[in-house]
Amino acid sequence: MQKLIEIKDLNMYYPVSSGILNSAKEYIRALSDINLDIYKGEILGLVGESGCGKSTLGKAILRLLNPEGYVYYENKNLLEFDRKELKQFRKKAQMIFQNPFSSLDPKMTIYSLLREPLVVHKIRDKSEINSRIHEIINLVGLNDEDLKRYPHEFSGGQRQRIAIARALILKPEFLVADEPVSALDVSIQAQIITLLQNLKEKLNLTILFISHDLGVVKYLSDRIAVMYLGDIVELSETHELFKNPKHPYTKALISAVPSIHEKAVKEIKLEGDLPSPKNPPEACKFHTRCKDVMSVCSQKEPEFTKISDSHCVKCHLYD
Ligand SMILES: Nc1ncnc2c1ncn2[C@@H]1O[C@H](COP(=O)(O)OP(=O)(O)OP(=O)(O)O)[C@@H](O)[C@H]1O
Ligand code: SF4
Ligand SMILES: [Mg+2]
Repeated sequence: MQKLIEIKDLNMYYPVSSGILNSAKEYIRALSDINLDIYKGEILGLVGESGCGKSTLGKAILRLLNPEGYVYYENKNLLEFDRKELKQFRKKAQMIFQNPFSSLDPKMTIYSLLREPLVVHKIRDKSEINSRIHEIINLVGLNDEDLKRYPHEFSGGQRQRIAIARALILKPEFLVADEPVSALDVSIQAQIITLLQNLKEKLNLTILFISHDLGVVKYLSDRIAVMYLGDIVELSETHELFKNPKHPYTKALISAVPSIHEKAVKEIKLEGDLPSPKNPPEACKFHTRCKDVMSVCSQKEPEFTKISDSHCVKCHLYD
């Protein structure tokens, strides 16, 4: 499989203030030494509890943040791109967000919303603009009549279709979808997921699909990465992850996914609260909640270990 993006030793620190009059400067390490390849044409699911760093990773890869490390795209570290290279990259990589309403200017018609990215990237030919807008609005399941309308005239699901159209109008090859269905009714979620799957095939997209819901990513991801407090703790092909989860955290997440077809698994309750990301546990960050914890777990950080060609895990049980 061909790599589209290769992430090496990626770290992101957010400065946060605390203490009297915010005098103390502290840092949240939202990404710790992330190593991850994203293959051309795949949907890679990224899951984990709120605050584990999923959005940070998505934004860091698109350089919407300034992380430290390496994100290779076409064999070059995009964290070192100059302005021109970055502008080219912005055409090829897009992001869609959880709340389609806040990302769509309410004063603009759908036509203007779709034209704007084209104009920003200097596509000025009117017939080219119109044919692209016509093509994309139909691809997302809306029609030309809708172009005259405003965002508030649409339902949540339709608004997400518009946001998807806007992200795809520049014909990108990579899309970060950050919780794109979490704000929608369950009945609408399936439609948007199917739409993304179809668009991926038609437009040869590669998608990083972020969700806190393992049940959602299960349906559309080729592979899944599981995050915990800034670490990727397990990475596997989807079917294998559900059949043979290795990390105790992944096992707990999977046991909480409702299943109609498969043999019901007894839910593994996670002990205790999620530790503060400002002050995460030493060594294995999961040791304060792990039911398999051993003495080594609080002393030494486990390595991210390959247990088969398509399956890696970060846990001392598999060292
Ligand atoms: N701009 C910021 N400044 C300071 N801390 C931040 C900032 N953005 C995120 N964080 C912190 O970084 C950590 C990771 O946040 P992030 O938003 O990436 O998590 P997430 O997995 O996307 O969570 P959610 O599921 O709630 O969207 C959290 O502890 C969060 O509080
Ligand atoms: S390293 Fe130890 S504490 Fe961490 S997940 Fe594995 S068994 Fe649990
Ligand atoms: Mg998020």
